[in-house]
Amino acid sequence: MHTHRIGDVTILGDYAEVPGLGFLPVNAFVLHAEQPVVIDTGLSTTDKDFVSALAEVLDPTDVQWLWITHPDRDHTGGLWALLEAAPAARLVSTFIGVGIMSCEWAVPLDRVFLLNPGQVLDVGDRRLHAFRPPLFDNPATTGFLDDRSGALFSSDCFGAPMPSLDLATSTDVRAVGDQVRDLQLLWASVDSPWVHQVDPARFRATVDPVRAMGASAIFSTHLPPVAEPDDRLYETVLLAPQTNPFVGPDQKALEAMLATFEPA
Ligand SMILES: [Fe+2]
Ligand SMILES: [Fe+2]
Repeated sequence: MHTHRIGDVTILGDYAEVPGLGFLPVNAFVLHAEQPVVIDTGLSTTDKDFVSALAEVLDPTDVQWLWITHPDRDHTGGLWALLEAAPAARLVSTFIGVGIMSCEWAVPLDRVFLLNPGQVLDVGDRRLHAFRPPLFDNPATTGFLDDRSGALFSSDCFGAPMPSLDLATSTDVRAVGDQVRDLQLLWASVDSPWVHQVDPARFRATVDPVRAMGASAIFSTHLPPVAEPDDRLYETVLLAPQTNPFVGPDQKALEAMLATFEPA
């Protein structure tokens, strides 16, 4: 896990290699607000130690808010260890999010703070405006805009698998170049397969309000940081309903792939 700070936000960057797709960035974040906020907690594989990585950035006992944008396994890796290491932290999620987490853990309800899209969380020196990103893969998904710095946290939305490890861990999306558009559309098709059933005009009505927020920087879990967002990001997402649906490798393809792993 590498760390990199942009303004009030530290990125705790990691990645997952996905055969056939590439290297998917898996970022978590610290928002250095008066009441510090951790946003997502990385991958759930046993080789990860999120709390130790976080401790390089701030004392975990200082964490006041732990915002899980949605309880998929690439967002909850360090969740329970961090709740133990940060006794003051409240777990920000939705009713559905807590319900999903409760299928695996005894969620301490006295630590939970339920926040719906459209609602606001006061973290001392700023307010975090929760919203549902236009692309998502989980009914609990909630991103937010920090109204002091203009940083926008979009969860899975705007993500893209990268062709190399270097790009997946890059500190600026501009390193990816123009190919980022097609990679984002591929990810949209993988992660939000419902988008192909959506009327483009109605879909636009979910993108425009996010564009109108005028974010100063965009932090997606699955994209290198966007330090200077421009219109291209939103125009790309608007194309998602018209792209080809993603079809994953089948058993024949898996066997062909495994054969290439066998020693000569
Ligand atoms: Fe997800
Ligand atoms: Fe994700």
